[in-house]
Formats: sequence, C-alpha cells, structure tokens
Amino acid sequence: MIVTTTELFKQAYGKYAIGAYNINNMEQAVGLFRGNLGKSGKNSDPVDNTKAAPFIIQISRGARDYSDTRILEGIIRACDEVFPEAIFAVHLDHGTEEVCYDCIKSGFYSSVMIDASHEEFEKNVEITKRVVDAAHEKGVVVEAELGQLGGVEEDVVGSVKLTRPEDAAKFIELTNCDSLAVAIGTSHGAFKFSGTQGLHFDVLTEIQKAVNAVKPNFPLVMHGSSSVPQEWVRRINIAGGHLAGASGVNEDEYFKASQLGVTKINIDTDGRLVWCATLREEFILHPEVFDLRPSGKVFMKNYADYIVHKNQKLGSAGSLADVTAALK
Ligand code: G3H
Ligand code: 13P
Ligand code: ZN
Repeated sequence: MIVTTTELFKQAYGKYAIGAYNINNMEQAVGLFRGNLGKSGKNSDPVDNTKAAPFIIQISRGARDYSDTRILEGIIRACDEVFPEAIFAVHLDHGTEEVCYDCIKSGFYSSVMIDASHEEFEKNVEITKRVVDAAHEKGVVVEAELGQLGGVEEDVVGSVKLTRPEDAAKFIELTNCDSLAVAIGTSHGAFKFSGTQGLHFDVLTEIQKAVNAVKPNFPLVMHGSSSVPQEWVRRINIAGGHLAGASGVNEDEYFKASQLGVTKINIDTDGRLVWCATLREEFILHPEVFDLRPSGKVFMKNYADYIVHKNQKLGSAGSLADVTAALK
C-alpha cells in the first residue's frame, strides 16, 4: 500500500528512522520488497513480523531516465500487488522544480523532494514554497533541503555547508515543507570520511531544538547515509574491483540520530556495493555461465538480507504490524 512519507513519519518520529532506499530496476525492487517483509528467499515466503518494516522507495532523476520512468513505476505497481502487506511511500529523490511538477501531476508519487539547496536561502525558500503549494493541492508531501552535503548530488558538485539551526526553523516556517534534509556531516557516495570524522550530533541537537520550537515533532532527513560496509568493499576488491579508501556512516549512529528527530535515512550507495560484489563474485565463481538469471537471483537474496540488517540498525525492523494497524 502506497502512503505518504508524512504518514510514516507520524508513526516513527522519535522512536526509529524509516529507511529510504534508491532503486533503478526490477532486481532491486524485488529485493527491497522481500527484505522489508523479512523474506529472504521466495516472494511467497511468509512475512516475518519480527523483521518487517515500512519503507520509502526513492527514485532519482537518473533512475527515471535509466530506461523510462513508466517502466520503473510499472515494476513498483506490480510489486505492490505481489507483496500486498508492504507499506511504503514512493518518493522523488533530489528533484528539480520541473521534475517535481511532473511527479506531482503523475499521481503515482506520494512524496517529492525539491532540492534547491545549492541556491541562496531566499531563492531556496521561493522555489520550495512554489513546489509545496502545488504538491499540497494534490495531497503530495514535500521534502526540502537546507545546507550542503559534500560530494556529488546528481549534477551538482557540492562543498560542505552544515545547516544552521536558526535558518532551518525559519525555512520550515516560510516554506511549509513537510520534512527537511539537513547537512550534519554526511556526503553522497562511497568515500565519505577520511580519518575519524563522523556526524555532528551537536549541530543536529540544536537543529531539532530550533525546528521543534516552531513545529513540534518536525521530521528531519539524513542524506548520504550509506555505511559502505567494509566487508562488501573487501569482497569487491578481492573480485577484481578497485575501491581504495571507501568509507561510510557508522551504522550505530542511525538509531542515535533517530532519537534526535531524524525520521528518514537515505541509502543508495550500499545497494550498489551489494550489486557490484554479487555480480563480480558470481562471474568469477561460474565462468561458464552466461545466463543473467542465476546472478540476478543471488543479488535479490543478498539485497533482501542486507535490507533486513539495515532496518535492524534503523530500529524500524519489527514495526510493520503496528504501522499496518495504524494506517490500514
Ligand atoms: O543522492 C543521490 C542518489 O544516490 C541518487 O544517485 O542520481 O546516480 O541515481 P543517482
Ligand atoms: P548514499 O550515497 O550515502 O547512499 O546517499 C544516498 C542519498 O542520499 C540519496 O538521496
Ligand atoms: Zn541524497
């Protein structure tokens, strides 16, 4: 069942974070649905309520263009039918104003992100406010971004600008956005930290205090949150890859962030690492195989297992039954 991110945030706020996972193809979609229902093997396996979690499917502009956005949407619609117990939001990741309007009009997305974080404060407010007004008219909710992560966001290369707490409070009042992505030390991709840097919990604490003074229980979002597991990086490198110095967010910090108002945690890179390691290993282990399905099956299982693990770290694992009772 497709719901808005706001409906999920109301259930999760202050208790755990909802995993927001980027997908591009059928294999990722199936692995994602299975994992969020606590299934590891077949679609028809029973739901494991000790592991099952609500989730957010993120579609980037790159994912929309990979083949044709209608094909990706068709896959998600089919998964909704195949996995009727799943509760999830369909969210545009890092949208421009134009793509936001396209998604709002489509009637398929329950949530969009307008990312004008590279603009000056006033311009960011102006663009975000226009998108919020258009989205709310259609029952779609909006995530905005203030501050700048390091690394690359789609086509924008950023240098870090941590979000200022007083600006965050002013921004959500002026724009009426439904959630806000804040920059607290993470960056996109597989090379986040060199040395011992980590998340700025001091800044996050101040942001939560400031935004809650104007809107209580306001959901914050953390982008660039892949943990870049060293085990997967090692497997990629052993199987012929070259990812030197890759590093990510400490997974134990997800839950800590969720206690400070972070209700959505974005993970894309980790899914790519699982894909890359799986395919490299499968080709080495079975050099005689040229059928795409055996490796695809292993990937779907590995990805589902990885999602279960992630949700355990986010604290959302095991919450689906309660969320279902509240929303259905
Ligand atoms: O934040 C960016 C996401 O990881 C999406 O990446 O634009 O390559 O699909 P992408
Ligand atoms: P990662 O690159 O850390 O997976 O971040 C993904 C993200 O923020 C998508 O918007
Ligand atoms: Zn992002």
